[in-house]
This record gives sequence, C-alpha cells and structure tokens, in this order.
Amino acid sequence: MFHSLFQPCRLKSLTLENRIVMAPMTRTFAPGGVPTREIADYYRRRVEGGVGLIISEGAVVDRPAARNHPGIPLFHGTQALDGWGQVIAEVHRAGGKMGPQIWHVGPEPGYRTEWMPDGKIESPSGLLEQGRPRGSAMTEEDIADTIAAFASAAASARALGFDVLEIHGAHGYLIDKFFQPETNLRTDRYGGESLKQRSRFAAELIRSVRHAVGPDFPLILRVSQWKSGDFDYRLARTPQELGDWLMPLVEAGVDVLHCSQRRFWEAAFPEVDGERGLNLAGWAKKTTGATTITVGSVGIRPEPGCEHRLDLTGLCRRLDREEFDLVAVGRAILSDPGWPMKLRAGDLDAVTSFDPAHVATLA
Ligand SMILES: Cc1cc2nc3c(=O)[nH]c(=O)nc-3n(C[C@H](O)[C@H](O)[C@H](O)COP(=O)(O)O)c2cc1C
Repeated sequence: MFHSLFQPCRLKSLTLENRIVMAPMTRTFAPGGVPTREIADYYRRRVEGGVGLIISEGAVVDRPAARNHPGIPLFHGTQALDGWGQVIAEVHRAGGKMGPQIWHVGPEPGYRTEWMPDGKIESPSGLLEQGRPRGSAMTEEDIADTIAAFASAAASARALGFDVLEIHGAHGYLIDKFFQPETNLRTDRYGGESLKQRSRFAAELIRSVRHAVGPDFPLILRVSQWKSGDFDYRLARTPQELGDWLMPLVEAGVDVLHCSQRRFWEAAFPEVDGERGLNLAGWAKKTTGATTITVGSVGIRPEPGCEHRLDLTGLCRRLDREEFDLVAVGRAILSDPGWPMKLRAGDLDAVTSFDPAHVATLA
C-alpha cells in the first residue's frame, strides 16, 4: 500500500530505499551531552522498522550557549563524537541511512526547564522577539566563530561516516533569528531590509559547511515559516519572497530543503493557489528547483473538528505529482518504530498511535 512512499530516492550518490524520513526530535536523553547505547538502540529500531533516512535529534555545535537543556546531545568533543560514532555504526549495521541535525538554539529558552548554560547567550541583536531582550548581540568575531563551529561539526559528521547532514535553520533558533526582521536589527552586512540580506549569515554558514563536507555529501537545510511561540508567523509573504529567501541558500550549497509545517496539507500561499494549493515544500521546490521534504502531522490522529483523515492518500497524491520528494514523520515514528513497515503492509490496525506520554520514554 501507499506505493509512492516506497519508491527509492537519490540524493547525489546516496540512494534511499524509500521516501520516509524520521524527523529530528529532541529527546533530552543524553546525560552530559553524550549519546548513549540506549540512544543508538532507539535509532536502530527505526531502521528495523523500515524508515528510509533518519535525521537525528538536534545536536549542538561548539559554542558556549548552543543548547538550552542539559540532556541535548553535543556534536563536538571526543566523548560525544564517540557516542555518535556508536550511533551511526549501529544504524549502518542494520542497513539504515542517517544524518545528524546540527543546531544552535540562540536565545530560545529551554522547554520545561530552568537550566541555564554556562556561557553567554547569543543572538543577532540581543532579542528573543520584538521588544524582548535576551542574550547579547553577536560580534563579528562571534559570527565567524559560530560559522567555524558549524563547519567543524559538519566535518566530524562526514568523518564519522554519516550519510547526510541537516542544518537547523527553522523554528526561531539562532539561524532563523537572523532571517526575521523583528530579531535582526543589525546594521552591518548580516542585517538589512530584505530577506535576501538577512540570509547572508545562513549563506556564509552553508558555504563553510559545504566546503567542510565536500561537493558530493548531501546537505539538508530545515526552514519554517512558523516560530516557537508563534505558529502563524509568516517570514515569506509571497512566493517571490520565498524564492528571495531560499535561492541564495541553495546557491550556497544546500541540496535539500526540509520545509517544516505543522500540517502538511495546509497551503503555504492560499491567496495564490487556493486552500488546497501547494504546501511549503511544494512552493520551495517550485521556486528553487531543489529537492524538498515535507512534514507535519503525517499519521497523526486528527484533532476533534479537523476534517483531515488519518489516511494518507492525499499525501501520496501530492508525492505522485512531485510537489515534493520526501516525507518526514515525527511523532508517529516516535511512538511506533515499525510505522513504515506496518504502513507498507497495510496493517494500520497494528500501529501504536502517538500519545504525548511516549515523549517521556525512549522506546
Ligand atoms: C518531541 C519532539 C521533539 C522535536 N525536536 C525537534 C528538533 O530537535 N529539531 C527540529 O527541527 N524539530 C523538532 N521537532 C519537530 C519535528 O521534527 C516535526 O517537525 C514535528 O513533530 C511535526 O511532525 P509530526 O507531526 O510528524 O510529529 C520536534 C518534535 C517533537 C514532537
């Protein structure tokens, strides 16, 4: 069943067996920032369950305040990198493909924790959001060091044998804070009136990362219109603005745009092509020509009053029309590692549905 989800997909010289990607999900189960044996087993179970590509939970680059919870894994330092080496070895032994998501949270506070990092919290202009100071405005030296930290993490990902790399540029974290006019008030070359000008930090970072991993390594960038704390936020108000934002990033070296939405069936610009129009991944593909991943409530039981049904025929229709290339699945795979295999077999009754209580365990 759902034949279109089970077609192979090529990313440069990498071939994925199917179109299902495990979405990055922070689990905060890494004591001291070091991935454990349990984490390696958790990812291996998703390979055994049939997922085509795993994107890891966000793992942070080597900056003093890059994370906002002590259980978030690091992607630097011998111990943490050894832990990641164990993770990718386990995934490969089971026949899977995987890339880490590398991350810097910027000024975003941690979810349900009072924990504070030791170092200085940093952001483009010392703002969490409009009129809400948090952290210090980054100096040009901070910017250069942050870009170097991303490039170093990228080089480590490749050296450890990961298959792809994802950069987290979404949801209001550090890179995204540069895109937003409310939080990037800089008057140097990293700020400016247009989205294209404010994309400069990301473009320089991507160029450095591309240089670190070489030309053939698939590089994914996660982007979103919505922000933590503001689900209705729209960074690009028109398809033209979307192109102005994303095209320089693709030109800088991104192969795949991972377009984060809360519900994949929602049109990104309904005023242009209607309520059933292209979603964000659809428009990102149309305006840049890049490979795209969609995501958002795939396999999640609809909320009361929501018309969307659990069945995935609408999703497959969009995939058949090549509106996007890959489909990321978060909570459904968090709750049931075997979700892809069960879907393929049409055995939907056997699926363990997502329950928020599952987030507290690493099953
Ligand atoms: C527990 C949890 C942790 C998450 N952590 C991350 C993260 O580290 N990085 C990220 O880009 N998105 C993160 N997300 C968002 C997911 O990747 C995904 O976009 C979102 O859950 C919607 O997909 P779904 O409806 O299939 O779950 C997280 C989501 C959940 C539920």
